[in-house]
Amino acid sequence: MKPNLEVRIGALRMKNPVTVASGTFGYGQEYARYFDIAALGAVTIKSITLKPRAGNAPPRLVETPAGILNAIGLQNVGLDAYLAEKAPFLRKHGATIIANIYGSQPDEYCELARRLEEAHAADAIEANLSCPNVHDAATARGPALVAQIPERVAEYSRALRAATKLPLLVKLTPNVADIREPALAAQEAGADGVSLINTLMGMAIDPETRRPRLANVIGGLSGPAIRPVALKMVWDASRVLQIPVIGMGGICTAPDAIQFLLAGANAVAVGSMSFRQPDAALQIVRGLADYLEHHQIPDVNDLVGAIAT
Ligand SMILES: Cc1cc2nc3c(=O)[nH]c(=O)nc-3n(C[C@H](O)[C@H](O)[C@H](O)COP(=O)(O)O)c2cc1C
Repeated sequence: MKPNLEVRIGALRMKNPVTVASGTFGYGQEYARYFDIAALGAVTIKSITLKPRAGNAPPRLVETPAGILNAIGLQNVGLDAYLAEKAPFLRKHGATIIANIYGSQPDEYCELARRLEEAHAADAIEANLSCPNVHDAATARGPALVAQIPERVAEYSRALRAATKLPLLVKLTPNVADIREPALAAQEAGADGVSLINTLMGMAIDPETRRPRLANVIGGLSGPAIRPVALKMVWDASRVLQIPVIGMGGICTAPDAIQFLLAGANAVAVGSMSFRQPDAALQIVRGLADYLEHHQIPDVNDLVGAIAT
């Protein structure tokens, strides 16, 4: 018998627990040339904002020994173009859509969520409260990291909860002392799940020119380098939460994804690895099914939190 791969994140049904991480899969169009994107549990889109954004000046990407440092700065097509061009493409291909959104105020997040819901252009909302690469006057201290302040996580999540009936995921930052605090704040404010982790803040300098390698000076580190950190944060958070966790950070293979499920994630997202291998997420779906069959585990949900300690 084929094992069950379906998972639920609140009211969101995913045919398998594998999605892609926002910002590493665009709106699915380039990847649809390589494989059937509807075979994924969901497609998580690049963060969209109310108006289009050009993002930061280049250079915006730097390779590191085991990952990428990026400071894209939320370049995106904006809500109108997403609704007119991108969502119809994803719908035509039968993809389940997790719409990642970004705003500088709770009102902006709410408008994005409302309009996405009205247009049936999302199956779930993922609120990016944790982009390290944009400047926000509200924090008055450089990069906007709402997710570093549990009270602000609660404020934004509560506003969004009131604005939409769509399943609500809150994406958190690893750049905190204790991930459980913002995670619990999101849960208490009515989120259906938390997505962790966004990138870890970092920087690189060229010793010859003495200049930072990123025009933005600082950026976010992703890829295999951050996997152990992400895994530990998923473990920490899932032990205190009642709501599901979508785990991400350096997932490259099915065994990596299985580690996240065992640590307590209900679903996983594949990020930077898709740049190296466009169908990485699909291969992980297949590898997961093989693992379940091989170990005679009837349901992928049986793996969630099943770490042997
Ligand atoms: C180039 C790039 C762009 C990203 N853009 C976004 C974004 O727009 N919104 C967001 O929530 N996360 C964004 N992320 C973070 C990823 O979704 C993910 O949380 C992080 O990269 C960790 O996963 P990974 O190590 O598998 O890449 C971006 C990451 C990369 C590498």
